[in-house]
Amino acid sequence: MTKTKIAPSLLAADFGNLQRDVEMVNKSEADWHHIDVMDGVFVPNISYGMPVIKAIQKYATKPLDVHLMIVDPNRYIETFAALGAKILTVHYEACTHLHRTLQTIKANGMKTGVALNPHTNIKLLEDIINDIDIVLIMSVNPGFGGQSFIENTYNKIKALKELITRKGAKTEIEIDGGVTSANAKKLVEAGADVLVAGSFVFKSDNPTQTILDLIKATDIH
Ligand code: DX5
Ligand code: ZN
Repeated sequence: MTKTKIAPSLLAADFGNLQRDVEMVNKSEADWHHIDVMDGVFVPNISYGMPVIKAIQKYATKPLDVHLMIVDPNRYIETFAALGAKILTVHYEACTHLHRTLQTIKANGMKTGVALNPHTNIKLLEDIINDIDIVLIMSVNPGFGGQSFIENTYNKIKALKELITRKGAKTEIEIDGGVTSANAKKLVEAGADVLVAGSFVFKSDNPTQTILDLIKATDIH
């Protein structure tokens, strides 16, 4: 059984000590650096942009998992490739021509990610699933860290897993929002491959240990 990947979300890091927090992830057992980009239009909040990601890239040694919560993400695909993104995730709700956007992400050497808001049905991915490397299921409404987990997420994971199997796709399932060691096991049992965790990791007393706790909680064999 493959290990569940853990992607600490730097949105919850201490921005005054960003280098320290990026290096904590480097040295930990986590797999990816999750980077949330918000534009104040697609979501009510604004997070950080290119200069900050450039600083993260300078110190990060693990793959950059970039989650774009912005309108018309097509405009910035080349920019994020140049900033070192390995996975580029766009929101289904923000893309008029999702197929074209995913082809451009691939052409720029990155893995394709598609994020779904809590209200967006898995069925909408039926005709595009074979072009998606990672589906990110939002388990809170995007825009802020520290919100509580939406329980319907388990049903969505199961429905997505069924779709992936039926279509013979190799898509991984990533869960983002309100993830803790209390729900991690149930998420993996439902079919999650990657867990994003912001507040749970960075607001804890010992983030490195909290990452280990999450890994332990997801060890279901
Ligand atoms: C929310 C972001 C998340 C966020 C998760 O819009 O996409 O990645 O950082 O934070 P927590 O784990 O605190 O819910
Ligand atoms: Zn995110």
